[in-house]
Amino acid sequence: MKLFVDTGSIKEIETIAALGILDGVTTNPSLLAKEPGDFRQNLKRICDIVKGPVSGEVTATDFAGMIREGHDIAAIDEHMVVKVPLTRDGIKACKALSGEGLRVNVTLCFSAAQALLAAKAGATFVSPFVGRLDDIATNGMTLIADIVEIYDNYDFTTEVLVASCRHPIHVVEAARLGADIATCPPAVIESLFNHPLTSIGLEKFLKDWEKTQSVKA
Ligand code: E4P
Repeated sequence: MKLFVDTGSIKEIETIAALGILDGVTTNPSLLAKEPGDFRQNLKRICDIVKGPVSGEVTATDFAGMIREGHDIAAIDEHMVVKVPLTRDGIKACKALSGEGLRVNVTLCFSAAQALLAAKAGATFVSPFVGRLDDIATNGMTLIADIVEIYDNYDFTTEVLVASCRHPIHVVEAARLGADIATCPPAVIESLFNHPLTSIGLEKFLKDWEKTQSVKA
């Protein structure tokens, strides 16, 4: 399973990329709005660091505007993926942009029916938001299981990009269900490393080793 980081922060992306386990980046208008500087230049820098898929989202809500912004985003770098919302115009734009050979990530997906539309429109990625479903007392991971099953039934090539991951269990469950990608905030990626027995075990190994060194000296 591929691991993407969900942030617009170049500093955070550099830190996670240095770990050697990063496959791509997702951004959204809320995340990019937090960062200083020109968003195009920031996205270009992110592409140079990651050299993998980097999603940049359109803010237009009409078909023509999405196509125009989609072209603008795709022109930033070959690694850019155009992110469009799961609306009627978004699905139309996905079909048109995919038809031109651009990669499209259909975002704000909250149902299996919507995910079916994204696949039919030729999306490269669909982004179901598990955390925001959990927030309204609906099991987000059930949606992932449904989408994976539906896509498998018809050999759709659209990749299931589990978004709005809030904790390590979302990542583990995404992997168990056979989702293609999980995109997580940096803190969730950091949390994947943590286990108290690893820390305790390492501390003991090093203490025991230190003892032998003082005996030898
Ligand atoms: C995905 O592409 C979105 O940027 C993101 O995962 C949304 O997560 P949130 O619900 O934590 O804002």
